[in-house]
Amino acid sequence: MASTEIQNIFAELGLTPPADVGEGGLVIKDPSNGQTLARLATHDEDAALAMVDKAQAAFKKLRNMPGPKRGELVRQMGEMLRTHKEGLSKLVCAEVGKGIEEARGEVQEMIDICDFATGLSRTLGGRTLMSERDGHRMMELWQPLGVVLCISAFNFPVAVWSWNAAIAFVCGDSVVWKPSPKAALCGIAVHELLKPVLDKAGHGDAMQLVLERDVKVAEALVDDARIPLVSATGSCAMGRKVYPRVASRLARCLLELGGNNAIIVDKTANLDLAAHAIAFGAAGTAGQRCTSTRRVFVEAAVADALMGKLEPAYRQLSERIGDPRDSANLIGPLIDEAAVAAFSSAVERAAAAGGDVRVGGKALERDGNFVQPTLVRVPDGQPFPLMAEETFAPILYVQAFPDGGLDEAIASQNSVEQGLSSAIFTDSLRAVERFYSPDGSDCGIANVNLGTSGAEIGGAFGGEKETGGGREAGSDAWKSYMRRQTCTINGSDALPLAQGIKWE
Ligand code: UN1
Repeated sequence: MASTEIQNIFAELGLTPPADVGEGGLVIKDPSNGQTLARLATHDEDAALAMVDKAQAAFKKLRNMPGPKRGELVRQMGEMLRTHKEGLSKLVCAEVGKGIEEARGEVQEMIDICDFATGLSRTLGGRTLMSERDGHRMMELWQPLGVVLCISAFNFPVAVWSWNAAIAFVCGDSVVWKPSPKAALCGIAVHELLKPVLDKAGHGDAMQLVLERDVKVAEALVDDARIPLVSATGSCAMGRKVYPRVASRLARCLLELGGNNAIIVDKTANLDLAAHAIAFGAAGTAGQRCTSTRRVFVEAAVADALMGKLEPAYRQLSERIGDPRDSANLIGPLIDEAAVAAFSSAVERAAAAGGDVRVGGKALERDGNFVQPTLVRVPDGQPFPLMAEETFAPILYVQAFPDGGLDEAIASQNSVEQGLSSAIFTDSLRAVERFYSPDGSDCGIANVNLGTSGAEIGGAFGGEKETGGGREAGSDAWKSYMRRQTCTINGSDALPLAQGIKWE
């Protein structure tokens, strides 16, 4: 049997809890206390590939359904999520240890993208273009693409699937979802909750869920030539494995990988605002967002003043570590013991390299994977190599830059391998313009007077360099999920050739 809590949550969602397959099943552990939540059956390679068969057949039907009708299905999914927001939030909270308030935000993100996709389903469209030839017309048609493989990570166990799936469905694609094995219960619940919407319309197979704990299953999917788009969220290491495999069969990849996001604070900034944003960005979700703030570059003149705000804020946060189910706690556990070990090793190396651990730095001596939000003041005026590392934990490095040295701060910000999110706190218009200039932030997300995390779904989400270059969710990210067809129509009685070529 799954744990009583999981049974209760599934009951609240109106679903049958997943069967417990006992020893040998995929074990889901509560990161808050190490208790087993469930032992789940997983799929092997054959089962996974059989799902691609089904998804492909479903695609052939779905692609002929009018876009707005597909939008109506996604609207119904959004309604389902509205009804079950609380139950699903509880599951996200229990399985991955995300604070209940942030878990609600994550489910809200799903609802938002369903709303967005519903509207989009009536506006998906191409351009008409001027032909250079007499009596000719050119236009772009956007056609459904095919089966989309969505690989999602533990840290946004439900929202990231929805960014992909809601858009893919309105575009006429089917979706095979391979969630992180650390968040399989979330995958099961979302699948069971939303698939009936498609089932009722006769398109149930357009939604497939593969649970695996053997990398071979994932590899078989990534290598499957029937899948024209692989959308993968996770570490840069994972992306480095997925990308060449997909490239070798010349298919498309949409990658949303790591981030090593920085905030610049200049001397004109509102320091209260900056400190609040930095604390949420660095310690929220226990530092386990790809958008988490990991580095701060502060102008020397206000460095002590900013630390004077961050230190007490971090000390307060240290009092609010605990069970993520209790909304009084702001810091939940890390996902597993390996994450705690990575945290401890990074803090140890930071101290050994001359970093001053001002607050935190310890893993808590109790059940569960809890660590203290950690504030490290690093020496100024020299590179601190650890700052280039993305540790998926609540560690923040703060370094001062010389007064008037904004260009230096921007260069430091850009000096890492990833390019996901960035922010500047300033009241200076010139600084903002510098930040947005071609010499400015090199990231996919660049914010002024707000933090690096917590993007809205309306924008395209993703980043440059080793973040992988993909864009998901809003704006025109839908274009990755369709194929573009350039169409020229000759309405004349002649056959003029382009470029004025005569070939009589
Ligand atoms: C992620 O961490 O993979 O901008 C996604 C944010 C969230 C999404 C994060 N809306 O922080």
